[in-house]
Amino acid sequence: MLRITRGALIVLEGVDRAGKTTQCQKLVHALQQSGRAAEMMRFPDRTTKIGQLISSYLEKKSNLEDHTVHLLFSANRWEMVPLMKQKLEQGINLVVDRYAFSGVAFTSAKPGFSLEWCMNPDIGLPKPDLVMFLQLNPNMAANRGEYGIERYETSAFQRTVHQRFEELMQDSSVNWKVIDAARTIEEVHKDIKLLSECIISLAENQPVGELWR
Ligand code: TMP
Repeated sequence: MLRITRGALIVLEGVDRAGKTTQCQKLVHALQQSGRAAEMMRFPDRTTKIGQLISSYLEKKSNLEDHTVHLLFSANRWEMVPLMKQKLEQGINLVVDRYAFSGVAFTSAKPGFSLEWCMNPDIGLPKPDLVMFLQLNPNMAANRGEYGIERYETSAFQRTVHQRFEELMQDSSVNWKVIDAARTIEEVHKDIKLLSECIISLAENQPVGELWR
């Protein structure tokens, strides 16, 4: 009898302008081309009610208290968990543009927020089988053109975010892989595709884990 194996949960992280969205799209396309089921998700998911609150905050159309917005970003992930689990069980590989790591890196870059406090609300989320960090020096990121006009899009803030990501990557309970994003789109894609194909085969026979637990 044909047994459906579960899909892998693959996350791309990195500072703004590292090329995450482009690489997520290319990966989904490549996996589909090779006959694997794959879908892209992104956080924040701005389509839900919570996502709309977040979007308005990021676009500076509204202000939210810092703890509050952190918890909204987390809630925006939790509201997607039933759907994520369903898709993984159906054998669909999920390629996710940002996850809890962005949540922690961005809020903890604000004064007065510890990594620990920031991690708490996301403890127990489906654990990614692989987290690829697109490594790009913040100076190079800034050279890729002007930052946008959304909240957080300044070089000083992005530098602190980058430091927080470095701290998060010390955690060996998460399968981090650092990818040099200063190369061409195709070179970066090749590495990402290879790592993803390996993890898809490995994840098949393992249950989905719980993040930071
Ligand atoms: P994006 O939609 O262009 O990826 O931008 C989302 C912004 O929100 C980006 O600056 C990172 C930030 N962010 C958080 O502050 N917390 C989070 O949990 C996530 C997922 C993103």
